[in-house]
Amino acid sequence: MTAPIIRLRNVVKTFGDFTAVDDLSLDIDAGELFCLLGGSGSGKSTLLRMLAGFESPDSGTIEIDGKDMRGVDPADRPVNMMFQSYALFPHMTVAENVGYGLRRMGLAKAEVATQVAEMLRLVKLEALAQRKPHQLSGGQRQRVALARALARKPKVLLLDEPLSALDKKLREDTQFELMNIFDATGTTFIVVTHDQEEAMVLATRIAVMDAGKFVQVDTPRQLYEFPKTRFVADFIGNINLLEATVTGPGRSEGLAALHCEALGAVEAACDGEVPPAGAHVWLAVRPEKIALSTDTAAPGYDAVVDDLGYRGGDTQYRLRTASGAALKVTKPNTERQGQRPVDWDTPVRIAFAPEAALVLRQ
Ligand SMILES: Nc1ncnc2c1ncn2[C@@H]1O[C@H](COP(=O)(O)OP(=O)(O)OP(=O)(O)O)[C@@H](O)[C@H]1O
Ligand SMILES: [Mg+2]
Repeated sequence: MTAPIIRLRNVVKTFGDFTAVDDLSLDIDAGELFCLLGGSGSGKSTLLRMLAGFESPDSGTIEIDGKDMRGVDPADRPVNMMFQSYALFPHMTVAENVGYGLRRMGLAKAEVATQVAEMLRLVKLEALAQRKPHQLSGGQRQRVALARALARKPKVLLLDEPLSALDKKLREDTQFELMNIFDATGTTFIVVTHDQEEAMVLATRIAVMDAGKFVQVDTPRQLYEFPKTRFVADFIGNINLLEATVTGPGRSEGLAALHCEALGAVEAACDGEVPPAGAHVWLAVRPEKIALSTDTAAPGYDAVVDDLGYRGGDTQYRLRTASGAALKVTKPNTERQGQRPVDWDTPVRIAFAPEAALVLRQ
């Protein structure tokens, strides 16, 4: 086991009487692509700026590569930061922008040229080396900023909303490029984003932040399949959260039997121990894990289609259960059909495997 590249212990940052970063402890391993995910104002940029050395914590410690960073200047840290609004120097060419940090380090001209060429190859911008930033597309500018941040070969690259200026399609392409560059360099990346899909695509692990705290730190799959709280369940993807009471253990190991106002008797999986009978919990089911049938004799629960949204690749249904509760169900449109399979006001039956549903206690 190697020591973590980043080690935070009880890091606190306040601005006046406002606590922006609230007692964070975390280890990040070398070679991770770690995402900080959270709503606006949750403290993501503040944490990144403390890692870069532009802010210092009020208390707690930040170690990078085994060294305490207290009092260490940004320029002397083994990190580099790509800012939320990646400001390129407008009067410099692409090549000059990428080489800026290297020239400031006092590298010889020939050495700078070699390394700039290597970086431009990495981000596939060799052909545009002599252009100025205003002659580039948004995605190309983003790649110049990335090459500039990588040029000094930091051990850790901090990226604050690196793709936020790009439109959806370009953003998705650039996510894959960013992952390729990450693979090619072996640098540890810490990426801030408020886009949960982006975090899911990019990250080895994600820290979900809320009000300056980490609410859960896990792999994308674990966050999606086993959120620990309703906040995380709702923040990552779409989910149905229904109030329920535990009536006892379920029919097999790890399942709880519940009574749920919206559906009646249900069983669902527990991440950990089955809560005691009488415990007030929430039943959490992802919309794509619910089967929908127009056969009114099918097993499951009665519902009616209240509303539907055709999105091309899938259709989102808003259902109403017999007790009047709202439920979201998503179905992939795997076949081209002239008619919608299930229309407004259609009575349907819905069902889900107990293992596909999760019991949440908070
Ligand atoms: N220099 C400062 N002085 C006072 N308050 C600040 C300062 N910097 C940040 N804050 C506050 O700290 C909180 C966290 O800010 P931060 O920039 O870390 O949020 P963020 O998670 O990056 O949000 P966004 O997604 O909008 O970029 C916010 O409420 C912000 O107003
Ligand atoms: Mg920010």
